[in-house]
Amino acid sequence: MFFKNQPLLLPGFIAALSLSLARGVLSSPTPEVSATRIIFQFPNGTGRLENIAVRQNGNLLLDVISAPEVRQLNPFNPTEALLVHSFPGVQGMFGIVEFEPDVFAVIGGNFSLDTITTVPHSYSLWKVDMRPFKSDENGNIESPAAVTKIASIPEGLLLNGATILEPGSPYVLLADSGAGTVFRVNVHTGEYKVVLSDETMTTGPGLAIGINGIHIFDSVLYYTNTNRKLFAKVPINLSGPDAGTATGAYEIVANNGYGDDFTFDAEGNAYVATNLDFSIQKITLPGNFSTIAGGADSVALEGDSAAKFGRTAKDRNILYVCTSGGLAGTVADTYRTGGKVVAIDVSRL
Ligand SMILES: *[C@@H]1O[C@H](CO)[C@@H](O)[C@H](O)[C@H]1NC(C)=O
Ligand SMILES: *[C@@H]1O[C@H](CO)[C@@H](O)[C@H](O)[C@H]1NC(C)=O
Ligand SMILES: *[C@@H]1O[C@H](CO)[C@@H](O)[C@H](O)[C@H]1NC(C)=O
Ligand SMILES: *[C@@H]1O[C@H](CO)[C@@H](O)[C@H](O)[C@H]1NC(C)=O
Repeated sequence: MFFKNQPLLLPGFIAALSLSLARGVLSSPTPEVSATRIIFQFPNGTGRLENIAVRQNGNLLLDVISAPEVRQLNPFNPTEALLVHSFPGVQGMFGIVEFEPDVFAVIGGNFSLDTITTVPHSYSLWKVDMRPFKSDENGNIESPAAVTKIASIPEGLLLNGATILEPGSPYVLLADSGAGTVFRVNVHTGEYKVVLSDETMTTGPGLAIGINGIHIFDSVLYYTNTNRKLFAKVPINLSGPDAGTATGAYEIVANNGYGDDFTFDAEGNAYVATNLDFSIQKITLPGNFSTIAGGADSVALEGDSAAKFGRTAKDRNILYVCTSGGLAGTVADTYRTGGKVVAIDVSRL
């Protein structure tokens, strides 16, 4: 996640765009219309989304940053974003990663949306076990998720992206966008320590957000650095006592511009949510990059913060993108909206 100064809001455009967006959401979207569709939009000012995970049953988990909430959306019937859990002692949720089947680690912390600044030392990591979670057809929760705190991480300045090392590993890695480091956390014991740090991870002068999204492909950790506008990599040890530490050099893959969180396809192409650039960028591992959806005038992808592919036979080609609704900045002459979930059929791009 990241933020920039707001442009002026023009009241005249607000009502008009509000109506057109409402229509866009309510009309049943046909696949012919566009490869990119808004499938859910929160009311104005709410549901600002920071991250997204996909459950094995196809449901989406949405991390809200404007409230300490994880919500669930069924992308095949996206009528309601059910509240899964509201977390005590934090104001918003950040990175999310599945570390055992249907069990997730989620970062919580305080980030002031008014002053656009992190509250250092406010971050913690939570376990959200979705296995017991049940809701009826009307969205009433019959059995809640089992939620416990894994660890408070008071050293964290702005804990943001998250990833697992490998299936079955007791460790998750968390990017600290403020400190320019990566923490390794044992999800069973709550023990944690910094395992990676490099200049390519630090914020540099300007926006106080450095390393942001982190994901592993072929034993190499890739990461965006928002303020430094780069995509970089470092080979790491996946297991053993040195799990998460570097086994080689840190290298810049591409100077690709603003990047927030991202995801890989099976071939190792990265799909990067560019937040302030309102687009999805595809980066091949040699480092070639291009915009494949959205762009400067894209209202749908305003403030896009993370992306994940569907996991069922029906939606494996669908890239689900969550947005803050332009919290960091909006398309010229538009206004802040609520967070959105956008479905992009990459096979049709
Ligand atoms: C959305 O909320 C903002 C901030 O409160 C407000 O300025 C704007 O008028 C609202 N837009 C609509 C369409 O209600
Ligand atoms: C974070 O926000 C929560 C809820 O408002 C508050 O109780 C807590 O003290 C804050 N933490 C810090 C370190 O400011
Ligand atoms: C990974 O760590 C183990 C011990 O913790 C070590 O034996 C091994 O050489 C490391 N692998 C690499 C590629 O450095
Ligand atoms: C990738 O980028 C390199 C260096 O800029 C260029 O030489 C190459 O043609 C590009 N490959 C593709 C497939 O665009």
